[in-house]
Amino acid sequence: MKAIILVGGYGTRLRPLTLTVPKPLVEFANRPMILHQIEALAQAGVTDIVLAVNYRPEVMVSTLQKYEREFGVHITFSVEEEPLDTAGPLKLAEKTLKKDNSPFFVLNSDVICEYPFKALAEFHRAHGGMGTIVATKVDEPSKYGVIVHDLKVPNLIDRFVEKPKEFVGNRINAGIYILNPEVIDLIELKPTSIEKETFPILVNKRSLYSFDLEGFWMDVGQPKDYLAGTGLYLKSLRRKNPALLSAGGNVLGDALIDPTAVIAPSAKIGPDVVIGANVEIGDGVRIEKSVVLANSTIMEHSLIKDTLIGWHSTVGRWCRLEGVTVLGDDVKVKDEIYVNGGKVLPHKTISVNVPQEAIIM
Ligand code: GDD
Ligand code: MG
Repeated sequence: MKAIILVGGYGTRLRPLTLTVPKPLVEFANRPMILHQIEALAQAGVTDIVLAVNYRPEVMVSTLQKYEREFGVHITFSVEEEPLDTAGPLKLAEKTLKKDNSPFFVLNSDVICEYPFKALAEFHRAHGGMGTIVATKVDEPSKYGVIVHDLKVPNLIDRFVEKPKEFVGNRINAGIYILNPEVIDLIELKPTSIEKETFPILVNKRSLYSFDLEGFWMDVGQPKDYLAGTGLYLKSLRRKNPALLSAGGNVLGDALIDPTAVIAPSAKIGPDVVIGANVEIGDGVRIEKSVVLANSTIMEHSLIKDTLIGWHSTVGRWCRLEGVTVLGDDVKVKDEIYVNGGKVLPHKTISVNVPQEAIIM
């Protein structure tokens, strides 16, 4: 089987992390985001994966060659000269996606869930339509594409509304599809939105169905959702594979701590915390609902809550970081500093309090 992962866009909503690392390579639960998807695709029997990118992919090429071997998949890059939006990349990769006559998967690169690829493929074949969208329920549907059903035919989609201004329903597009190769014939090689242009054509042909996702789902393309998604991911790990979670006297609730991290015995970690490789955490530190990426240091007695700390950063002693604060790569926070909802650009030093949401550049 084949799949295309849409990895274009600049990941602007995940700045400042994406100023130094492309979004698909930003770690989620200590592994590059895209690796969660590649692994699940490989497990479902996918052998060819196209990564649709619209920037120079050199960093990604070298990282991903490693995973080709690890997962036994063939990864190719399809590079756009201009951003082709969410449908154009399918046309550009037509040759690979039409290689045999079987349906192919399409993935947004920033969605995290228990990927249901095998069940999705079976469901798709059984209804015989041209496409199937994975659907999930959310409380705030206006940020997503909303699916409205035909009440007479089970799972047939009657309307697809991208980012609706008025409430039309709360079952949304989870950013995972399976499509028949002939769908590519409906797309031209130019910037085209699959959500606004291609799906409505399939809806008119009465050939687009939805498949209900079980378990958690999150688009982790912005800091608040990334942190919420981390909590949901750890909860699902607790249910499915608790041995992978960290345990110990200073761990509270669900936490994932890289084995190379050094944590002082009197620090308290959790719940809903991920600590990356080579992180150092001092005495009396308290971390909850937060992620500390690789090679960062949190010094004694600091409190880190609802915060995302980028790589190679240092937080001093007796600091308090909260309110969806995000530190970019190589940030230094001096001792006794309070940051509430600050987004701090790479290589900055913070020596005065940031009491309100602000971008520090
Ligand atoms: N190759 C390529 N080229 N990829 C692109 C481009 C482009 O020009 N533009 C966007 N993408 C990729 C993004 O990297 C992402 O993986 C995916 O297409 C969707 O773009 P987002 O910017 O993340 O869209 P969204 O989150 O606002 O909405 C989409 O995802 C929701 C689920 O998370 C839509 O598909 C919604 O309908 C959906 O509900
Ligand atoms: Mg998104």
